[in-house]
Amino acid sequence: MRIVLVGFGAVGKALVGMLEAKAEELYRAHGLSPRVVCVIDSGGAAVAGRGLSAAALLAAKTRGGGGGGSVAGIEAEGAVGLRGVEAERVIKDTAADVLVETTPTSVRDASRAMGHLRAAMGAGMHAVSVNKGPLAVAMPALVQLAAHNRVMLRYSGTVGAGTPVLATARTLAAGDRIVRVRGILNGTTNFILHRMQTAGESYQDALAEAVRLGYAETDPSADVDGIDTATKVVILANAVMKMGATIGDVRVSGIRDIERSRVREAAERGMSVKLIGEIDATVGARGGAGRALSVGPAEVERGGPMDVPRNVNAVEFTLEKSGTVTLVGRGAGGDETATAIVRDLVEIWHEGGGGR
Ligand SMILES: NC(=O)c1ccc[n+]([C@@H]2O[C@H](COP(=O)([O-])OP(=O)(O)OC[C@H]3O[C@@H](n4cnc5c(N)ncnc54)[C@H](OP(=O)(O)O)[C@@H]3O)[C@@H](O)[C@H]2O)c1
Repeated sequence: MRIVLVGFGAVGKALVGMLEAKAEELYRAHGLSPRVVCVIDSGGAAVAGRGLSAAALLAAKTRGGGGGGSVAGIEAEGAVGLRGVEAERVIKDTAADVLVETTPTSVRDASRAMGHLRAAMGAGMHAVSVNKGPLAVAMPALVQLAAHNRVMLRYSGTVGAGTPVLATARTLAAGDRIVRVRGILNGTTNFILHRMQTAGESYQDALAEAVRLGYAETDPSADVDGIDTATKVVILANAVMKMGATIGDVRVSGIRDIERSRVREAAERGMSVKLIGEIDATVGARGGAGRALSVGPAEVERGGPMDVPRNVNAVEFTLEKSGTVTLVGRGAGGDETATAIVRDLVEIWHEGGGGR
């Protein structure tokens, strides 16, 4: 299976390292031999039909000094570095079976990542995206494009990173009907709310602590304003409930204005305040006032399965026949997200989409 990887940051690096470390196991268990034939970052591309090694790619990245280098600076036998090239052109010109998209998520401008996915699927490649941006703004169109080109589109790392939220939802939906989903899908906001509850901190102090520990970006808007959670709600609603939704269909409010007193009062009543993404499957996605998709602060039972600490994620599925099922796990991390990509690649391979 020949892979084009777009983005060589935390997730991309973890993926290339993992594919090397698991090469023997993937072949033994699945007959799968993945080969990364092209890597693209913001400075250019590295291409090698026989495969690129993690060591050579990492060396090229560090050669720029202060981590500022590009994979285009690759120095390895049989590899070619291309500086300042247009990613879409390189994708179209590379003979490969699967594209893996790991560039930064942006909902405001998802056009670049969308271009990468379109170029790949248009050229007959399957696509794996951990980038939520294109899926949040145009998932129905991307699903159609994949079907039109008879290729597979996978995105399990977009919700829950390594925790298999989408796979679990699909399994549950196969035998029962999912009536409602409630999820704590953003680690940064959960960390902040947990600190406010357990350490009695203000929102600002808890946010500063989250930034200090590397849980939050210096610009945490996408997290604290609920946008990140909303992207995951859209992906879940479409993947499992076939709602055909986009981010505009979600009623969103974040946690910026949460007062310490609200968190304290809830705790006194035996409840914890969380940022909850919710899908009500009994209402259509665009159901007006009774909108099916929402994100906002809400309460969960203190000490219950959804009362997860720090930056942990949790998703509660309410089923028509079987009651509730709650999945708890880590929702972020380069290695964690890379495991989801490997799962997708294995799935594509088993469904006959792996090339040679
Ligand atoms: N990290 C997580 O825990 C996690 C979890 C789930 C999902 N995700 C998603 O996974 C994606 C990657 O996350 P990350 O943490 O690996 O991000 P990251 O460390 O910031 O890496 C992003 C990579 O994309 C490259 N890039 C940026 N713009 C590009 C462009 N126009 N063309 C080609 N390459 C470009 C960057 O190039 P340079 O190296 O040249 O800067 C960098 O290599 C994001 O969409 C994120 O939302 C991440």
